[in-house]
Amino acid sequence: MSLDKTIRKATEVGHRAAIVGAGHTRFGALDAGPRALLREAIDRAVASVDRGMDRSRIGEAFVATLGFGGWQIGNVAAVVAEEAGLPGVPVTRVENACASGGFALLAGVRAIETGAADLVLVAGVEKMTDVTNARRRYWLGVSGDTEWERSAGLTFAGVYGLLASRYLHDHPEGQDALAAVAVKNHENGALNPNAHFQKRITREDVGRAPRVAEPLGLYDCCPVSDGAAAVLLAAPEPAKSFTDTPVFVEGIGAASDRLAVQARDDLVRFAATRRAAEAAFRHAPFDRSAIALLEVHDCFTIAELLALEDLGFAGPGGAAALTLSGATARSGRLPTNPDGGLKAKGHPIGATGVSQVHEVFLQLRGAAGPRQVPGAERALAHNVGGAGASATVALFQRG
Ligand code: COA
Repeated sequence: MSLDKTIRKATEVGHRAAIVGAGHTRFGALDAGPRALLREAIDRAVASVDRGMDRSRIGEAFVATLGFGGWQIGNVAAVVAEEAGLPGVPVTRVENACASGGFALLAGVRAIETGAADLVLVAGVEKMTDVTNARRRYWLGVSGDTEWERSAGLTFAGVYGLLASRYLHDHPEGQDALAAVAVKNHENGALNPNAHFQKRITREDVGRAPRVAEPLGLYDCCPVSDGAAAVLLAAPEPAKSFTDTPVFVEGIGAASDRLAVQARDDLVRFAATRRAAEAAFRHAPFDRSAIALLEVHDCFTIAELLALEDLGFAGPGGAAALTLSGATARSGRLPTNPDGGLKAKGHPIGATGVSQVHEVFLQLRGAAGPRQVPGAERALAHNVGGAGASATVALFQRG
């Protein structure tokens, strides 16, 4: 079927959500605390709306956060209401580990689709760097299987190290591809002023780096970062009053899997990602061939390869060749993580899924500056919680 036939016009679809604004803080080891980070991201999102926006029109808000380090376990919702200037508006905290942002987006889209609100704020935040190393390790581990795998000593990097070992056992060429993912994402991060790391690295740097959990070294891991991001969703009618170029959410899927990796049938396929992608594409008026860029959850370099396969852009083991061919570079046919991904941009847990949508918003409106993917009209964002225990996939199209 031709692309023209598969892509329906925006007006032919009923209740969809449109992104009309997006804001982002710098990611990294920052002085600011969670309140200030949230305020900055939300203020920037509001300020980014082309024709301006009165906050009193926001009818509902969702905030994604793990509450890393225990900074605010119970009621971050009230903090968002205060910092966003939304007194009285219902705010719901969403906590689904590293996929919190993706699930908050899902909740926001549903609020629009059901007519519960015409204008919805979705924010994500994490403050991770102000805790001791021992406490960091503890909090990084809470999103995995704490009863068996963590108590046996497995860290998060250790889990992904096991997945990488299995992948490389079957596909030895994957070793070079892991290094290529790290080099590519640092290259993209060097063009992103919000990225935690804005420095280019070479394959030699990757090879020389200290080992973290074999076969993964320092440059195979995302860092521990602070940061926040926010997006504003509107129903299609009011969206027109805010901007001429909204970005529509055309499909969104979410799924879960067994928590412990030892309980899975297959170590190198994330069933949650596969199911989420299937659901998202079932609802979207276009297929994979229409996607101009991907934001995928590369918490470790192996995760980017697994994502490309689980999302259906490569067969089993095929992501290694795809990456080595240069296809996933910004100038390739399937640009992947043009903002630097979790690897270089950073991974403030609750903010990550929302940050991916921020990048999609910029890219599809041609506003991504030196890292712009030319002419991008459709994009995919993929957010994972734990080592594949939950996932969301969202599909976007420029209005
Ligand atoms: N990539 C590149 N450089 C990194 C880095 C990373 N992931 N993490 C730290 N660095 C750099 C620091 O900037 C610092 O550089 P400098 O000496 O030039 O200032 C140096 O390495 C040491 O930093 P430090 O913070 O002491 O590193 P660390 O050894 O405590 O932590 C990791 C390194 C990889 C263990 C840590 O970043 C980590 O745990 N990452 C994974 C986070 C995670 O699991 N998130 C959830 C995933 S779902």
